[in-house]
Amino acid sequence: MPQVKEITANELDAKKFIEEKAAEISQAVGNGIAINALSGGVDSSAVTMLGHKALGDRLKTYFIDNGIMREGEPQQIVSIFKKLGVNVQIVDAQDAFFGALKGIADPEEKREAITQTFYKKVFGDLVKNSGAKYLLQGTILTDVDETVAGIKRQHNVFEQLGIDPQEAFGYKIIEPLVQLRKDGVRKVAEAAGLPVSIFNRMPFPGPALSARVIGEATRERIALVRKATVILEQELAAVKAFQYMAILHNDRVTGMRNNKREFGQQIEIRCWDSIDARQARPTQLSFSALEKLANRILAEVPGVVSVTYNIAPKPPSTMEAV
Ligand code: XMP
Repeated sequence: MPQVKEITANELDAKKFIEEKAAEISQAVGNGIAINALSGGVDSSAVTMLGHKALGDRLKTYFIDNGIMREGEPQQIVSIFKKLGVNVQIVDAQDAFFGALKGIADPEEKREAITQTFYKKVFGDLVKNSGAKYLLQGTILTDVDETVAGIKRQHNVFEQLGIDPQEAFGYKIIEPLVQLRKDGVRKVAEAAGLPVSIFNRMPFPGPALSARVIGEATRERIALVRKATVILEQELAAVKAFQYMAILHNDRVTGMRNNKREFGQQIEIRCWDSIDARQARPTQLSFSALEKLANRILAEVPGVVSVTYNIAPKPPSTMEAV
Protein backbone atom coordinates (compact mmCIF):
# COMPACT_ATOMS: atom_id res chain seq x y z
CA MET A 1 0.00 0.00 0.00
CA PRO A 2 1.56 3.34 -1.00
CA GLN A 3 1.57 5.90 1.80
CA VAL A 4 -1.62 7.97 1.64
CA LYS A 5 -0.90 11.70 1.66
CA GLU A 6 -3.13 13.37 4.20
CA ILE A 7 -5.02 16.55 3.31
CA THR A 8 -5.87 18.36 6.55
CA ALA A 9 -9.19 20.17 6.89
CA ASN A 10 -7.24 23.43 7.16
CA GLU A 11 -5.41 23.07 3.89
CA LEU A 12 -8.39 21.59 2.06
CA ASP A 13 -10.00 23.64 -0.70
CA ALA A 14 -13.32 21.79 -0.78
CA LYS A 15 -14.58 23.14 -4.11
CA LYS A 16 -11.32 22.31 -5.85
CA PHE A 17 -11.21 18.89 -4.19
CA ILE A 18 -14.72 18.13 -5.49
CA GLU A 19 -13.76 19.13 -9.04
CA GLU A 20 -10.57 17.06 -8.94
CA LYS A 21 -12.16 13.95 -7.46
CA ALA A 22 -15.14 14.11 -9.83
CA ALA A 23 -12.70 14.29 -12.74
CA GLU A 24 -10.73 11.32 -11.38
CA ILE A 25 -13.88 9.24 -10.96
CA SER A 26 -15.03 10.18 -14.43
CA GLN A 27 -11.72 9.15 -15.91
CA ALA A 28 -11.51 5.86 -14.03
CA VAL A 29 -15.04 4.75 -14.85
CA GLY A 30 -15.03 5.98 -18.45
CA ASN A 31 -18.33 5.14 -20.13
CA GLY A 32 -19.06 2.40 -17.65
CA ILE A 33 -21.21 2.46 -14.58
CA ALA A 34 -20.31 2.57 -10.94
CA ILE A 35 -22.21 1.56 -7.90
CA ASN A 36 -22.21 2.72 -4.32
CA ALA A 37 -23.95 2.08 -1.08
CA LEU A 38 -25.28 5.03 0.85
CA SER A 39 -25.82 4.79 4.58
CA GLY A 40 -26.55 8.46 5.17
CA GLY A 41 -23.36 8.97 7.13
CA VAL A 42 -21.27 11.94 6.07
CA ASP A 43 -18.64 9.77 4.31
CA SER A 44 -20.98 7.78 2.06
CA SER A 45 -23.10 10.88 1.48
CA ALA A 46 -20.10 12.91 0.30
CA VAL A 47 -19.01 10.05 -1.97
CA THR A 48 -22.52 9.83 -3.44
CA MET A 49 -22.40 13.53 -4.31
CA LEU A 50 -18.93 13.22 -5.89
CA GLY A 51 -20.00 10.18 -7.89
CA HIS A 52 -23.24 11.80 -8.97
CA LYS A 53 -21.36 14.89 -10.11
CA ALA A 54 -18.96 12.74 -12.11
CA LEU A 55 -21.35 10.17 -13.53
CA GLY A 56 -24.95 11.38 -13.15
CA ASP A 57 -27.31 8.44 -13.65
CA ARG A 58 -24.38 6.14 -14.40
CA LEU A 59 -23.85 6.01 -10.66
CA LYS A 60 -26.26 3.51 -9.12
CA THR A 61 -26.76 4.31 -5.46
CA TYR A 62 -28.35 1.83 -3.09
CA PHE A 63 -29.40 2.07 0.51
CA ILE A 64 -29.04 -1.42 1.92
CA ASP A 65 -31.67 -1.91 4.58
CA ASN A 66 -29.80 -4.35 6.77
CA GLY A 67 -32.40 -4.27 9.55
CA ILE A 68 -29.92 -2.78 12.01
CA MET A 69 -30.32 0.91 11.17
CA ARG A 70 -32.08 3.42 13.38
CA GLU A 71 -35.83 4.09 13.32
CA GLY A 72 -37.01 5.38 9.92
CA GLU A 73 -33.43 5.90 8.71
CA PRO A 74 -33.68 4.39 5.19
CA GLN A 75 -36.70 6.52 4.22
CA GLN A 76 -35.26 9.72 5.72
CA ILE A 77 -32.00 9.42 3.84
CA VAL A 78 -33.62 8.55 0.52
CA SER A 79 -35.88 11.59 0.78
CA ILE A 80 -32.95 13.95 1.53
CA PHE A 81 -31.15 12.77 -1.61
CA LYS A 82 -34.29 12.90 -3.71
CA LYS A 83 -34.47 16.64 -2.97
CA LEU A 84 -30.92 16.92 -4.36
CA GLY A 85 -31.87 15.10 -7.56
CA VAL A 86 -30.10 11.87 -6.59
CA ASN A 87 -32.09 8.70 -7.00
CA VAL A 88 -31.41 6.13 -4.28
CA GLN A 89 -32.90 2.68 -4.24
CA ILE A 90 -33.65 0.87 -0.99
CA VAL A 91 -32.74 -2.83 -0.96
CA ASP A 92 -34.40 -4.94 1.71
CA ALA A 93 -31.68 -7.29 2.95
CA GLN A 94 -32.84 -7.74 6.53
CA ASP A 95 -33.18 -11.51 6.35
CA ALA A 96 -29.65 -11.94 4.98
CA PHE A 97 -28.09 -9.88 7.77
CA PHE A 98 -30.06 -11.37 10.64
CA GLY A 99 -29.33 -14.81 9.21
CA ALA A 100 -25.61 -14.07 9.20
CA LEU A 101 -25.67 -12.61 12.73
CA LYS A 102 -27.49 -15.58 14.19
CA GLY A 103 -25.68 -17.14 17.13
CA ILE A 104 -22.70 -14.73 16.99
CA ALA A 105 -21.72 -12.89 20.14
CA ASP A 106 -18.07 -11.93 19.53
CA PRO A 107 -17.59 -8.30 18.34
CA GLU A 108 -15.09 -9.07 15.58
CA GLU A 109 -17.10 -12.05 14.37
CA LYS A 110 -20.15 -9.79 14.15
CA ARG A 111 -18.17 -7.29 12.06
CA GLU A 112 -16.93 -10.10 9.85
CA ALA A 113 -20.45 -11.49 9.38
CA ILE A 114 -21.69 -8.04 8.39
CA THR A 115 -18.73 -7.43 6.06
CA GLN A 116 -19.20 -10.74 4.31
CA THR A 117 -22.97 -10.37 4.00
CA PHE A 118 -22.62 -6.83 2.74
CA TYR A 119 -19.81 -7.17 0.21
CA LYS A 120 -20.11 -10.73 -0.92
CA LYS A 121 -23.77 -11.49 -0.80
CA VAL A 122 -26.00 -8.41 -0.93
CA PHE A 123 -23.66 -5.98 -2.63
CA GLY A 124 -21.96 -8.64 -4.71
CA ASP A 125 -25.35 -9.58 -6.17
CA LEU A 126 -26.22 -5.95 -6.86
CA VAL A 127 -22.92 -5.36 -8.61
CA LYS A 128 -23.33 -8.48 -10.73
CA ASN A 129 -26.84 -7.49 -11.75
CA SER A 130 -25.89 -3.89 -12.46
CA GLY A 131 -22.84 -4.75 -14.55
CA ALA A 132 -20.79 -2.19 -12.61
CA LYS A 133 -17.07 -2.80 -12.40
CA TYR A 134 -16.43 -0.01 -9.95
CA LEU A 135 -17.51 0.56 -6.41
CA LEU A 136 -17.24 4.02 -4.90
CA GLN A 137 -16.54 3.89 -1.21
CA GLY A 138 -16.20 6.48 1.57
CA THR A 139 -13.11 5.10 3.30
CA ILE A 140 -11.32 7.89 5.22
CA LEU A 141 -7.79 8.09 6.59
CA THR A 142 -8.85 7.30 10.17
CA ASP A 143 -10.38 4.01 8.99
CA VAL A 144 -7.05 3.09 7.42
CA ASP A 145 -5.02 4.18 10.48
CA GLU A 146 -7.10 2.26 12.99
CA THR A 147 -7.14 -0.85 10.88
CA VAL A 148 -3.38 -0.74 10.28
CA ALA A 149 -2.81 -0.19 14.00
CA GLY A 150 -4.99 -3.21 14.73
CA ILE A 151 -7.20 -1.16 17.05
CA LYS A 152 -10.48 -1.96 15.40
CA ARG A 153 -11.18 -3.51 12.05
CA GLN A 154 -13.20 -1.07 10.02
CA HIS A 155 -15.72 -2.68 7.71
CA ASN A 156 -14.58 -0.71 4.68
CA VAL A 157 -10.83 -1.21 4.59
CA PHE A 158 -9.57 -4.00 2.38
CA GLU A 159 -6.12 -3.32 1.04
CA GLN A 160 -4.67 -2.89 4.51
CA LEU A 161 -6.12 -6.23 5.50
CA GLY A 162 -4.48 -7.92 2.51
CA ILE A 163 -7.79 -8.45 0.71
CA ASP A 164 -7.94 -7.76 -3.03
CA PRO A 165 -11.55 -6.71 -3.70
CA GLN A 166 -11.18 -7.51 -7.40
CA GLU A 167 -10.24 -11.06 -6.56
CA ALA A 168 -12.49 -11.49 -3.54
CA PHE A 169 -15.63 -9.77 -4.78
CA GLY A 170 -15.10 -9.05 -8.49
CA TYR A 171 -14.99 -5.26 -8.48
CA LYS A 172 -12.53 -2.39 -8.17
CA ILE A 173 -12.86 0.08 -5.35
CA ILE A 174 -12.47 3.84 -5.75
CA GLU A 175 -11.92 5.69 -2.47
CA PRO A 176 -12.02 9.44 -3.18
CA LEU A 177 -11.97 10.50 0.52
CA VAL A 178 -9.03 8.42 1.68
CA GLN A 179 -6.76 11.46 2.19
CA LEU A 180 -9.25 13.18 4.48
CA ARG A 181 -10.31 12.93 8.08
CA LYS A 182 -13.85 13.53 9.30
CA ASP A 183 -13.52 17.32 9.55
CA GLY A 184 -12.32 17.47 5.95
CA VAL A 185 -15.15 15.23 4.76
CA ARG A 186 -17.67 17.51 6.48
CA LYS A 187 -16.28 20.47 4.52
CA VAL A 188 -16.56 18.53 1.27
CA ALA A 189 -20.11 17.43 2.10
CA GLU A 190 -21.16 21.01 2.81
CA ALA A 191 -19.51 22.34 -0.35
CA ALA A 192 -21.22 19.58 -2.35
CA GLY A 193 -24.61 20.98 -1.33
CA LEU A 194 -25.65 18.47 1.31
CA PRO A 195 -27.86 19.78 4.16
CA VAL A 196 -26.55 20.38 7.68
CA SER A 197 -28.37 17.28 8.95
CA ILE A 198 -25.91 15.33 6.80
CA PHE A 199 -22.66 17.31 6.87
CA ASN A 200 -22.84 17.67 10.65
CA ARG A 201 -24.26 14.22 11.18
CA MET A 202 -23.10 12.38 14.23
CA PRO A 203 -20.89 9.39 13.39
CA PHE A 204 -22.70 6.07 13.32
CA PRO A 205 -20.75 2.84 12.91
CA GLY A 206 -20.94 0.60 9.85
CA PRO A 207 -22.14 -2.35 11.95
CA ALA A 208 -24.94 0.03 13.02
CA LEU A 209 -27.10 -1.05 15.96
CA SER A 210 -25.40 -4.43 16.09
CA ALA A 211 -22.46 -2.50 17.57
CA ARG A 212 -24.86 -1.26 20.25
CA VAL A 213 -25.88 -4.72 21.38
CA ILE A 214 -23.41 -6.67 23.49
CA GLY A 215 -23.78 -10.31 22.54
CA GLU A 216 -26.07 -11.67 19.83
CA ALA A 217 -27.82 -9.13 17.61
CA THR A 218 -31.25 -10.69 17.19
CA ARG A 219 -34.25 -8.84 15.70
CA GLU A 220 -35.74 -8.50 19.19
CA ARG A 221 -32.57 -7.14 20.80
CA ILE A 222 -32.04 -4.70 17.91
CA ALA A 223 -35.66 -3.53 18.25
CA LEU A 224 -35.07 -2.90 21.94
CA VAL A 225 -31.89 -0.85 21.49
CA ARG A 226 -33.54 1.00 18.58
CA LYS A 227 -36.34 2.15 20.91
CA ALA A 228 -33.79 3.35 23.49
CA THR A 229 -31.87 5.13 20.70
CA VAL A 230 -34.97 7.09 19.61
CA ILE A 231 -35.42 8.36 23.18
CA LEU A 232 -31.71 9.12 23.59
CA GLU A 233 -31.56 11.09 20.35
CA GLN A 234 -34.66 13.09 21.32
CA GLU A 235 -33.43 13.85 24.84
CA LEU A 236 -29.87 14.76 23.87
CA ALA A 237 -30.66 16.56 20.60
CA ALA A 238 -29.57 19.92 22.00
CA VAL A 239 -26.35 18.59 23.57
CA LYS A 240 -23.18 19.49 21.71
CA ALA A 241 -21.36 16.17 21.91
CA PHE A 242 -19.26 14.27 19.39
CA GLN A 243 -21.44 11.17 19.65
CA TYR A 244 -23.94 9.53 21.95
CA MET A 245 -25.28 6.03 22.04
CA ALA A 246 -27.46 3.58 23.92
CA ILE A 247 -26.07 0.09 24.44
CA LEU A 248 -27.95 -3.04 25.39
CA HIS A 249 -26.02 -5.24 27.80
CA ASN A 250 -25.92 -8.98 27.62
CA ASP A 251 -26.30 -9.55 31.35
CA ARG A 252 -29.63 -9.18 33.03
CA VAL A 253 -30.07 -7.76 36.49
CA THR A 254 -32.74 -7.99 39.12
CA GLY A 255 -35.27 -5.20 39.20
CA MET A 256 -38.86 -4.81 40.28
CA ARG A 257 -41.98 -3.61 38.58
CA ASN A 258 -45.53 -3.56 39.92
CA ASN A 259 -44.27 -5.09 43.15
CA LYS A 260 -42.90 -8.10 41.31
CA ARG A 261 -39.33 -9.17 40.80
CA GLU A 262 -38.22 -8.64 37.20
CA PHE A 263 -34.94 -10.08 35.94
CA GLY A 264 -34.57 -7.37 33.35
CA GLN A 265 -32.43 -5.69 30.72
CA GLN A 266 -29.72 -3.08 31.21
CA ILE A 267 -29.14 -0.08 28.96
CA GLU A 268 -25.86 1.79 29.14
CA ILE A 269 -25.68 5.37 27.88
CA ARG A 270 -22.46 6.82 26.49
CA CYS A 271 -21.99 10.42 25.43
CA TRP A 272 -18.60 11.61 24.20
CA ASP A 273 -16.68 14.84 23.81
CA SER A 274 -13.99 14.35 21.20
CA ILE A 275 -12.27 16.13 18.35
CA ASP A 276 -11.51 13.20 16.07
CA ALA A 277 -12.59 10.03 17.90
CA ARG A 278 -9.00 9.07 18.65
CA GLN A 279 -9.39 10.20 22.24
CA ALA A 280 -12.61 11.03 24.01
CA ARG A 281 -14.03 12.07 27.36
CA PRO A 282 -17.52 11.49 28.71
CA THR A 283 -19.65 14.62 28.35
CA GLN A 284 -20.56 16.21 31.68
CA LEU A 285 -24.31 15.86 31.20
CA SER A 286 -26.44 17.34 33.98
CA PHE A 287 -27.78 14.84 36.46
CA SER A 288 -31.34 15.99 35.76
CA ALA A 289 -30.86 15.37 32.02
CA LEU A 290 -29.57 11.88 32.80
CA GLU A 291 -32.43 11.21 35.17
CA LYS A 292 -35.05 12.30 32.63
CA LEU A 293 -33.45 10.13 29.98
CA ALA A 294 -33.32 7.12 32.32
CA ASN A 295 -36.93 7.58 33.39
CA ARG A 296 -38.13 7.68 29.80
CA ILE A 297 -36.14 4.58 28.85
CA LEU A 298 -37.45 2.70 31.89
CA ALA A 299 -41.03 3.71 31.13
CA GLU A 300 -41.00 3.30 27.36
CA VAL A 301 -38.67 0.39 26.59
CA PRO A 302 -40.23 -2.85 27.79
CA GLY A 303 -38.13 -5.04 30.06
CA VAL A 304 -35.46 -2.48 30.97
CA VAL A 305 -34.81 -2.18 34.71
CA SER A 306 -31.36 -0.54 34.75
CA VAL A 307 -29.87 2.50 33.01
CA THR A 308 -26.23 3.49 33.56
CA TYR A 309 -23.97 6.28 32.28
CA ASN A 310 -20.41 5.39 31.30
CA ILE A 311 -17.79 7.73 32.81
CA ALA A 312 -14.59 6.08 31.54
CA PRO A 313 -12.54 8.04 28.98
CA LYS A 314 -11.05 6.68 25.73
CA PRO A 315 -8.44 5.26 26.22
CA PRO A 316 -8.69 2.77 27.86
CA SER A 317 -12.37 2.65 26.82
CA THR A 318 -13.29 2.77 23.16
CA MET A 319 -16.31 4.81 22.15
CA GLU A 320 -18.40 1.83 21.15
CA ALA A 321 -18.79 -1.03 23.62
CA VAL A 322 -18.55 -3.70 20.93
P1 XMP B 1 -14.19 3.33 18.81
O1 XMP B 1 -15.24 2.44 19.39
O2 XMP B 1 -13.19 2.62 17.96
O3 XMP B 1 -14.97 4.31 17.82
O4 XMP B 1 -13.54 4.21 19.84
C1 XMP B 1 -14.39 5.38 17.16
C2 XMP B 1 -15.36 5.88 16.13
O5 XMP B 1 -15.48 4.91 15.09
C3 XMP B 1 -16.83 4.44 15.02
N1 XMP B 1 -16.75 2.97 14.84
C4 XMP B 1 -16.98 2.33 13.69
N2 XMP B 1 -17.32 2.79 12.49
N3 XMP B 1 -17.30 0.59 11.66
C5 XMP B 1 -17.49 1.91 11.47
O6 XMP B 1 -17.83 2.33 10.37
C6 XMP B 1 -16.94 0.04 12.83
O7 XMP B 1 -16.78 -1.16 12.94
C7 XMP B 1 -16.78 0.97 13.90
N4 XMP B 1 -16.43 0.82 15.20
C8 XMP B 1 -16.41 2.06 15.72
C9 XMP B 1 -17.48 4.81 16.32
O8 XMP B 1 -18.89 4.95 16.19
C10 XMP B 1 -16.77 6.10 16.67
O9 XMP B 1 -17.34 7.21 16.00
